[in-house]
Amino acid sequence: MFDIFKLIIFEKENPLPLYVQLFNKVKELIESEALLPDFKLPSIRQMSKELNINRVTVVTAFKELEKQGYAYTKPGSGTFVSNAYLVSPKNIHIQNNVVLDEVYNQDDISLINNGQISISQSTINFASATPTPDLFPVDDFKVALNQVLERDKGNAFGYQDSQGFYPIRESIAGILNKSNVSCIPDELQIISGAQQGIDIISKALLKQGDYVITESPTYTGAIAVFKSRGAQISDIELCEDGLNLNILEYTIKKYNPKLIYTIPSFQNPTGYSCTNAKREEVIKLAEKYNLYIIEDDYVSDLDFEGKNYIPMKSLDKYNRVIFIKSYSKIFMPGLRLGFMIVPSSILSNVIKAKHATDISTSGLIQRAFDLYIREGFWDKHARFMFNIYKDRYLKITNALDNYLPSSASYIKPGGGLNIWISLPFGFSINKLFNLSVSNDIVFAPGKIFYSSNSSQKHNNIRLSFASVYADKIESGIEKLSNTITSLQKISESYRNLPVL
Ligand SMILES: Cc1ncc(COP(=O)(O)O)c(C=O)c1O
Repeated sequence: MFDIFKLIIFEKENPLPLYVQLFNKVKELIESEALLPDFKLPSIRQMSKELNINRVTVVTAFKELEKQGYAYTKPGSGTFVSNAYLVSPKNIHIQNNVVLDEVYNQDDISLINNGQISISQSTINFASATPTPDLFPVDDFKVALNQVLERDKGNAFGYQDSQGFYPIRESIAGILNKSNVSCIPDELQIISGAQQGIDIISKALLKQGDYVITESPTYTGAIAVFKSRGAQISDIELCEDGLNLNILEYTIKKYNPKLIYTIPSFQNPTGYSCTNAKREEVIKLAEKYNLYIIEDDYVSDLDFEGKNYIPMKSLDKYNRVIFIKSYSKIFMPGLRLGFMIVPSSILSNVIKAKHATDISTSGLIQRAFDLYIREGFWDKHARFMFNIYKDRYLKITNALDNYLPSSASYIKPGGGLNIWISLPFGFSINKLFNLSVSNDIVFAPGKIFYSSNSSQKHNNIRLSFASVYADKIESGIEKLSNTITSLQKISESYRNLPVL
């Protein structure tokens, strides 16, 4: 057995009390991972005998370890190393994680990314639409990973087929065929996240100067990809029920675009969804004008109010829709895993683009996720996440109905993870942002989601509830609403000052 006593040596000259020295030594062993979570520490009697110190010294050191989150006690069994220290403030780099799911490049937001505005652990984070790590199914995934290593040995680490490991394509096709998108494994392309999918499609289909139509506002990561490929973006204002079809057709005729990029269900950032009837019309336009549609499906599964939107891919009689699926919102974003259903007419170009980008998505991760699906873990986890998010959705919409001042408004999306709040024209979002940060609240300012200066016509903020614990939502919305009200009062009192 591992001999902990050899690693605990007291220095005679050290002026610190013995219990502090013991605490520091054990703490060092835990932080350096020489002692792992759930390791049983020797009993108080053993410690005092082996180290030749008083029992009270050991008891006091153990109590301090417990108090600081390094250890826990099981009555009747002893004291064990805890894993709580892993989330102690020292180990959380929240400043760097808080907003990474969107591209922020303006004003105060870049200060957050640079760590110049620091966000404490108590900050209520309405800016990130990414689940918190405590929701990740680590134990079940570990089972799948271990089984893959046992089963496939070194094969798990070789290069994979660029289109994706065949069995995982079968598993995904199996899941899709139970829903209303039917496909065969040969139509699927595995990708290292939806972001890569958008990039690969752009690489395969766009030349410098080609036009892409996007909704306005839209996902910042897609704007960044199209710009980086030298494409020109023609953005069309998104309505509550999808794009205006006349404006869409007019824009297609004017710019002759290669692609339409759309997030038809619970759009990011607005939460708006395109009606099923409009989806069909958009596909007809794509066929009429010979272009492709990227359907970005990042949260359609989170349909809390039974809206039953039909994926565009399942309405796609003409094979014009490239369906891209992200797992980042309901699974683990760091796995970098997703898939696309690709029309046969462009499949070989897409596979070549994928190969040129990274040869293939990690074989180990593909195999483990395949097993994870086959063992039934996926269905269980998807249900778990749905319930967690639904609870948060109900809490945030309830709180907004109760606290949001009448000058602000929002449209209930029915699902997804984002709520788009409209504020009166002229209201300073920058001031609201700064004041909210000092009140421990962050959100995403609406202007970052616009590719052109059309944001000047709007005044919005995006609230996401993926990262906010249910019991923090109401107080967060109340604080934010009070901040909006007090800022409005200040600006009204300035307006009412007599002109001298
Ligand atoms: C609409 C949308 N598409 C794609 C992505 C990227 O997803 P992934 O992590 O799978 O690359 C995001 C991430 O926030 C998103 O909001």
